Amino acid sequence: MKPKILVTGGTGYIGSHMVVSLIEAGYEPIIFDNFSNSKRSVIGRIEQITGHKPKLIEGDIRNEKELSRVFEKYQISSVINFAGRKAVGESEVDPLLYFSYNVEGTIVLLRVMKKFGVKEFIFSSSATVYGDPGYDEFDEETPLSPINNYGQSKWMVEEILRKLYKAEPDWSIAILRYFNPVGAHPSGLIGEDPSGIPANLMPFISQVAVGRREKLRVFGNDYDTRDGTGARDYIHVLDLVDGHLAVLKAMNHKPQLLTLNLGTGNNTTVLELVHAFEKASGKTIPYEICARRPGDKNACWTNPNKAKKVIGWQAKRDINDMCIDTWRWQQKNPNGYPD
Ligand code: NAD
Ligand code: UFG
Repeated sequence: MKPKILVTGGTGYIGSHMVVSLIEAGYEPIIFDNFSNSKRSVIGRIEQITGHKPKLIEGDIRNEKELSRVFEKYQISSVINFAGRKAVGESEVDPLLYFSYNVEGTIVLLRVMKKFGVKEFIFSSSATVYGDPGYDEFDEETPLSPINNYGQSKWMVEEILRKLYKAEPDWSIAILRYFNPVGAHPSGLIGEDPSGIPANLMPFISQVAVGRREKLRVFGNDYDTRDGTGARDYIHVLDLVDGHLAVLKAMNHKPQLLTLNLGTGNNTTVLELVHAFEKASGKTIPYEICARRPGDKNACWTNPNKAKKVIGWQAKRDINDMCIDTWRWQQKNPNGYPD
């Protein structure tokens, strides 16, 4: 029998790619999502890619009854928790919403897991938990100092997981700190579909390329980087989900608390990404230099050594692959998923 993996947030950007990879790797993903930031048509796209329609339960991770029904119906082996909210700006405007979705939601989920004796858990954390330690290459020992409510909600869940593991060391827990996930499935059938104006660089660039936005605003060109614009460790979403598969294999229900950064170890500036996207798409990306965005760091990237050593994983795809796949998705779906 195929191991059943509960994927909360499984119709979202990273979750949908995870579901495809799980199916291809011989697992049975069970999606649990409240569609607060995703569209139902994602399911048909996953079926088109894999030839398999994943099971889907609509519900909110904060609702203990809805979640319990899933564990009653299916013998879940492990849980990957992508459900949550991720917009830094919104987290500053509505902190209660963020702590409710991200912290309360995860507590309810862990409580239900415990009730049903399911103790393998993978959590989507973020490089944002590091804040700005005064240097640019972060390893897993870099001190944690998140500077916004979104980052703090991730840090709080991490703390809860560390305390849970200390009190109940039979859990198998992975805290994965993602750097900047971009790109899309090479079929062009699933990808990132932000609602409203994209807050992140890659989706903004691709919407300019496809003609949905007039020009990119580059937030600052006076940073201490190769060309003065901010530099990040962009990671292809397929490499990211491969990292999760490697984590699942390495964990294998052995009691542990594993904390890993998932990034490439490289960094790309805003203007380098603009030029790479122009090359991949054949389009010109008009841009203007604007003031720095408050709270932005000059640069950050991961030291990828721990992931390589502990789970034998490293990212394979480069910036060109990330741009080509993003562009294919954007071109095929200029307005994102159909409703
Ligand atoms: P996303 O918004 O595309 O996906 C999240 C999914 O969870 C959506 O389908 C949404 O409908 C669902 N959801 C949200 N709240 C829910 C709830 N209470 N109950 C059930 N379903 C709920 O986001 P993503 O980019 O796929 O990110 C997935 C996870 O990875 C998030 O936890 C995010 O914070 C984390 N992360 C993302 C990034 C990034 O840049 N994309 C970086 C670091 C960490
Ligand atoms: N940028 C622009 N113009 C834009 C958008 C972004 O110049 O329109 C610049 C930013 O100033 C930064 C770089 O592009 O230098 C990347 O910005 P993103 O918003 O794409 O990514 P961030 O690294 O700022 O933040 C993202 C997520 C966070 C997450 C963090 C680390 O938004 O939620 O990655 O994982 F925590």
